[in-house]
Amino acid sequence: MSCRAGQNLWKSVWQSSRVHFRLSHLLIDLPIARPPTRRARARTKHPNSDPPDHREGGLTLSRDLAIDLGTANTLVYAKGRGIVLNEPTVIALDSRTNTVLNMGREAWQMIGRTPGYIVAVRPLRKGAITDFDITQRMIELLLKRAGISRFGRPRVLICVPSAITAVERRAVEEAARAAGANSVSLIEQPTAAAIGAGLPIHQPLGNMVCDIGGGTTETAVISLGGVVALEAIRVGSFDIDATIQAYVRREYGIAIGERTAEEIKVAIGSAWPLDDSVKAEVRGRDLMSGLPKTVILAPEEVREAIEEQVGAIVDAVLRCLGSAPPELSQDLLTQGLHLVGGGGMLKGLDRRLSEETGLPVKLVEAPLECVVMGAGKCIENFDAVHDLLLS
Ligand SMILES: Nc1ncnc2c1ncn2[C@@H]1O[C@H](COP(=O)(O)OP(=O)(O)OP(=O)(O)O)[C@@H](O)[C@H]1O
Ligand SMILES: [Mg+2]
Repeated sequence: MSCRAGQNLWKSVWQSSRVHFRLSHLLIDLPIARPPTRRARARTKHPNSDPPDHREGGLTLSRDLAIDLGTANTLVYAKGRGIVLNEPTVIALDSRTNTVLNMGREAWQMIGRTPGYIVAVRPLRKGAITDFDITQRMIELLLKRAGISRFGRPRVLICVPSAITAVERRAVEEAARAAGANSVSLIEQPTAAAIGAGLPIHQPLGNMVCDIGGGTTETAVISLGGVVALEAIRVGSFDIDATIQAYVRREYGIAIGERTAEEIKVAIGSAWPLDDSVKAEVRGRDLMSGLPKTVILAPEEVREAIEEQVGAIVDAVLRCLGSAPPELSQDLLTQGLHLVGGGGMLKGLDRRLSEETGLPVKLVEAPLECVVMGAGKCIENFDAVHDLLLS
């Protein structure tokens, strides 16, 4: 990372969360999950992309959409066009009337520039919808952003956690219908992830994926198009951020924001001892004096601080392996475990899982987009994948 990039990072974090976070050796790249730039979006587009007049925000003829409504990020894939929306799952809410004014990056931008009763809220908790009206309004905004008018009556495929309850499932379906969808189908996230990773899920072969998102971790073994073993826990990468926040508060007596905790996780967080020479310089608000204070964090202390969450993820993977049919376990030794989701990008997690399970572990090529890309492949050929859908 160049010095200028380091300064920009410093500046933006300072401006956004009023705390200062800087790497003491500005040598490493900060691969934090940023929503893609317009150019990056163009790169991830489906090969059969429509002509330019059908791009984001414009009118579209394609009525089939796949939506990954994640705790941290929301992605929309439009048939024939690829990923048309990739935004943080944040809404701007009028706290007096409980109405959703905007979502994604535009919601962030409203905060601080608008009256104090407009607040930023993450509407999903642990992968689940908590408020029906808010979800309906969010899906309305997604359809609009994807260029589908209310009269477009799109067919929508929504990726949902495997551990979703029947009530939560109905809530998603009804919210999407109320938002203007003509028909709503659901697909389990691990299945979509496996398709997105290009795994041969229709073969009588064990395909294992572990999707670590902001709020959930789902590990599944899929064979012949069906989930044969599943372990879902409501622990995700946001829990790691919260633990880092609590650690810095407890050990150093300073308060840092969620975003700074996330930056620390991405920069020096790890699940396995790596190159630990890079330390992070973190500035927060001293809890006693209220003044800015700087501390230096070492990777090993962050690793120890987040061990509970990392351990919970590793245990869930081991339990899933333990519940897989023995015939498939053989396959897994050669097929390996595929890591999906932003949380899978935690440094050294692949190595840690590999050491603990004895399986080869591979982080997929696009961990953040893998689920929606898998659902996207399904809508490209809706009729051929009916057996994979929940409804
Ligand atoms: N390089 C990285 N290292 C560690 N964590 C990362 C990295 N990049 C992104 N993340 C984390 O990934 C998480 C987001 O992942 P993702 O978008 O897959 O979640 P989600 O699908 O919205 O959540 P869920 O599936 O639980 O509902 C964030 O908590 C983010 O901090
Ligand atoms: Mg997810």
